[in-house]
Amino acid sequence: MLDISLDKKLLDFEKIFGLDIAKDSVGYTILRDNTDTKNRVPLDKPNPIAGPVSDFKVTGNSIQVLFRNGSAVLSITQEDTVHLFWTTGNGPVVANNDYRFDDVKFDTGKLVVLSKDIRIEISDRLDYFYRNELLRSEFLPDLGSPLILRARIRDDSIINGTGERSFPLNLRNRKLSLWNHDADGSYGEGADPLYINIPILLDVRNDSCYSIFFNNSSKAVFDLCSNEKDIVRTEFMGGILDYTITFGTLKDISRRMSDILGKALLPPKWALGYHQSRYSYNSQEEVEEVLDKFHEMGLPLSAIYLDIDYMDGYKVFTLNKEKFPDLKSLSEKMGRNGVKLVAILDPGVKWDTNFSVYKEGINGSYFIKDPEGNVIRGPVWPGNAAFPDFSDSKTREWWAGKYTFFKENGITGVWHDMNEPAIFVFWGDNSLPLMAVQKEGYHYLVHNKYGLQMSVAGYAGLSRLSEERPFILSRSGWAGIQKYAFVWTGDTASSWKVLKQTVPTILNLGLSGIPFSGVDIGGFSGNPSEELFLRWFELGSVLPLFRNHSAKGTNRREPWVFSKMGQEVIRKYLKLRYMMIPYFLSVSYESHTLGYPFIRPINMEFPDLYSDETFMIGGSLLAAPILRKGLKKIRITLPEGKWYYFWDDTICEGYVDVNVELGDLPLFVREGSIIPLDREGREFHVYPGNLERFVFYDDDGRQKPTFIKMEFRMKETNGIFTVEWAYEGNLNDGQTELKFVIHRDGTEKIITSRLQDKTLTYTQ
Ligand code: NOJ
Repeated sequence: MLDISLDKKLLDFEKIFGLDIAKDSVGYTILRDNTDTKNRVPLDKPNPIAGPVSDFKVTGNSIQVLFRNGSAVLSITQEDTVHLFWTTGNGPVVANNDYRFDDVKFDTGKLVVLSKDIRIEISDRLDYFYRNELLRSEFLPDLGSPLILRARIRDDSIINGTGERSFPLNLRNRKLSLWNHDADGSYGEGADPLYINIPILLDVRNDSCYSIFFNNSSKAVFDLCSNEKDIVRTEFMGGILDYTITFGTLKDISRRMSDILGKALLPPKWALGYHQSRYSYNSQEEVEEVLDKFHEMGLPLSAIYLDIDYMDGYKVFTLNKEKFPDLKSLSEKMGRNGVKLVAILDPGVKWDTNFSVYKEGINGSYFIKDPEGNVIRGPVWPGNAAFPDFSDSKTREWWAGKYTFFKENGITGVWHDMNEPAIFVFWGDNSLPLMAVQKEGYHYLVHNKYGLQMSVAGYAGLSRLSEERPFILSRSGWAGIQKYAFVWTGDTASSWKVLKQTVPTILNLGLSGIPFSGVDIGGFSGNPSEELFLRWFELGSVLPLFRNHSAKGTNRREPWVFSKMGQEVIRKYLKLRYMMIPYFLSVSYESHTLGYPFIRPINMEFPDLYSDETFMIGGSLLAAPILRKGLKKIRITLPEGKWYYFWDDTICEGYVDVNVELGDLPLFVREGSIIPLDREGREFHVYPGNLERFVFYDDDGRQKPTFIKMEFRMKETNGIFTVEWAYEGNLNDGQTELKFVIHRDGTEKIITSRLQDKTLTYTQ
């Protein structure tokens, strides 16, 4: 029997989705609860490991540490990295690394493991020292269900990571749930959890930091000192206790984590341009109008998006032929203007015995089932749907094969949405039952990987269809999503608070290993004022993904709907973005090869500073976006050294007061930088000073690219600047001439050189 509030909800649901979906939602919600009541998650077996150490065994490069009722296998896998794997009983000894610890000794009840800068002292707890400082004291874990690990951390460090958070950058004193979650159309600052949850924690203080990655995707709760002072408590509903700790500076640990989790993809250049989206462009003509208008106004554009209305009845891999009769020719026209078509794809396959994709899924046994073996059905856009089990490689293979649909219709990029997976429910969690059965385990163990595994399939599918590097935009993800997809922050509300929140959210994603992300400019739901939209646009122009998107029923947000002044601001930042692409691709290359985030917290480059609002783009550019209504002037604190105000070359030091009318985004260039820009062709902008290393990278976007890579160094001795470079690759459009623009005393001096010269000197 429905109570009154549910009755009202039913009416609301009916209004939005229609009566059938409303009824199916009620049905599914009851089914979810029944499934989880009949088949409970086994959660009642505490099994605390008891110390002290009773013995230890060294096998190859691993040390097995034995306690009374369990053991840990510890290996130092790199000079700065420790891996631990806990089991009850004796457990296996894993030794799959070449790196060897320096020494291990048993001394008055304590086992001491030494390796270069790391010392681990094990008794009835594990103390981790890095360069002789105690960074972390771990209590022996509880290996029951749930799995629990508690650790004492320093009292003055900052905690980052965990994926997507709508909180300030420092997560200390918060209790977080790790469960990928659809925020249901609109969320603001403080909403938790969101779409991407990653069991990575960074414990940061100046130069001595560490990160810990738990190789466990199960539902989890991380209490980051909110309940017990200085105690981080990590609790996993199930799975194994297997984790890797890596020590060093914030940059070191980002790099090392990328060795462990896998290197981020290298985006095709167009993905770094401007993306125009809306829920939805409703017909082929409408898309064409948008395209033409950008063209007429001389505004650059890289992609237009098709939201769910391009499909036939929201059925995956189908096209509404009435509204989009010839997507292929539309995409050819777009291609002539250098614009790509990106289309949305949800995981839910319409439950329809006449629908070929559904039939294939049933015949191939690709869908997720309940413990009794029935395929689970739950409603999303097309009505009741079945959900592919992407944890199964055979399902991924099947799904990957379906991406030919995109190629046949001229669609280049694919936008994975609703892949938590989200299901329309009436109460409780809006995803599959915890005890739904997947190849890799019960849903509660692998739910957080659903979006990641869908992207693994999609990436494989797209990679086969073209020589170009694929582009996938995914809403959900887990550790490693960066190898396959860009992400965005989902259904944000349109408010100043959310604009301000965007910066720490994207920074934390970067620190969790995901360099390429963005936000719906203007916020997804609601209508931003022109001022809010334009400030959001300014910020968006320097985020890795620069995409304008908004919900159904919101006011239009294409450039031409704004006032004349608004249009000028938009034009200015589109121009900035395209001018920056050579630098942004080089920064992306750095993320791809070294694992540093694309935009980084200021303390990654300058460990003593900290900010939730100011950030670095790569190692050379500092951005201080305007995140408050009505602001006309701000004081910006700069890190040590000289900084050039990007817009007029004023040299600033310490702090600076800047006038920030609408249309002013404060950007500063660090002295000793080389910034490749596309102004009148490619130019290398030199801001004199000492530079250890900057790699300029450009390529043709292929999976096996033709590229050019130049590794620069710069030094100053007695007023003479020397820029030196080594180069590799042969993408230079037949041109070996290099144009350097030297920024000095507020002027720009142009010097030309040739690629093969490898050095340039300049005396002021
Ligand atoms: C939810 C997504 O977050 C949003 O971006 C999209 O427009 C809608 N689904 C409709 O597909």
